[in-house]
Amino acid sequence: MSETTADTPAVPPTGATPGQQPDARRGAAYDSAFLRACRHEPVPHTPVWFMRQAGRSLPEYLKVREGIPMLESCMRPELVKEITLQPVRRHEVDAAIFFSDIVVPLKAIGIDVDIKPGIGPVIGDPIRTAEDLKRLRPLEPDDVPYITEAVGLLVDELGSTPLIGFAGAPYTLASYLVEGGPSKNHENTKAMMYGAPELWAALVDRLADITSAFLKVQIEAGASAVQLFDSWVGSLAPDDYRRSVMPASTKVFDAVAGYGVPRIHFGVGTGELLGLMGQAGADVVGVDWRVPLNVAAERVGPGKGLQGNLDPAVLFAPTRAVETKAREVLHAAQALGTSGHIFNLGHGVLPSMDPDALSRLVAFVHEASAR
Ligand code: CP3
Repeated sequence: MSETTADTPAVPPTGATPGQQPDARRGAAYDSAFLRACRHEPVPHTPVWFMRQAGRSLPEYLKVREGIPMLESCMRPELVKEITLQPVRRHEVDAAIFFSDIVVPLKAIGIDVDIKPGIGPVIGDPIRTAEDLKRLRPLEPDDVPYITEAVGLLVDELGSTPLIGFAGAPYTLASYLVEGGPSKNHENTKAMMYGAPELWAALVDRLADITSAFLKVQIEAGASAVQLFDSWVGSLAPDDYRRSVMPASTKVFDAVAGYGVPRIHFGVGTGELLGLMGQAGADVVGVDWRVPLNVAAERVGPGKGLQGNLDPAVLFAPTRAVETKAREVLHAAQALGTSGHIFNLGHGVLPSMDPDALSRLVAFVHEASAR
């Protein structure tokens, strides 16, 4: 058992005892369709939310973000609260996802990182050597007081709507840190993974601790589920995932297991990895649109929920086509029984999407799945 796991049972400031009944604030969302589905309990309708539901597809987002750089906006609790709530108000989704970014904890420990519009995270001084690794110090809750504050504000405001906290998984974070920015082929990352396995293992292990600490801050402040984004892990073959990535991701899931909040694991192009991603410790596995949910259910195995998996591009088609494709997703999910499915897109909302199409989709999923 890792050190982090042993630390987990400290009593959080909210008064919740990890693994036992949720505290009063988290309790308000306890019976929501989203959390019930995560626990495989009967639901009145299939819950739905969208990755990247907060953001550039919403005019009200563009308005409040005007003139404020992305990472700075993540450090202003009132603004984070407003941006997180915008899609909940507009679309009536079944869960809020905390407005932040996977590189926020890296920024908080002093890594030179910025988010460039239209590009993504860019690292001033990439991590490539054992010496560089020393810059990745552990994350302490005091490094991110604005996260604790924003989550607290949100949980009070959201009431019975659950708040999903999140973090980047070790592989995806490592890919940004080693490449220095977004990358198509992850060549430097893989060169380290294959050519300097000890350095690689040390890197992803440090990232696992940072990610665990970042998730714990959100859970202790009241988040009622967490999602680990391993967006780019689909670039790996299963054996390499098992050997070089899975131990670090497992460490993260173990570190937060004691809180008893559902843990979701998501990546893109992960058809061949779904079983292993579930084994890493997820309660719910996110699926992109390349694998139908009934097939994903077989790969993931019994006892795990599934989240997904409408192709985001479908939202650009006329309403009737969107509904046909959404119904296909709901039908495929029936392989799971009556519960255990959370409707989502196979990846995030695209900035050019029509927000009204998303609102219509939420209403359709609720109606078509009502039981
Ligand atoms: O609504 C939500 O989902 C919550 C907010 C959220 C953001 N980033 C806000 C954001 C979440 C969950 C993330 C996670 C994230 N960030 C991931 C994993 C999810 C995924 O999409 O695979 C990744 C890979 C990142 C890194 C990152 N940050 C990218 C690739 C970009 C886009 C760059 C661009 O301009 O196209 C960002 C910036 C970012 N993060 C934006 C938002 C709303 C856009 C910034 C802006 O509005 O200028």
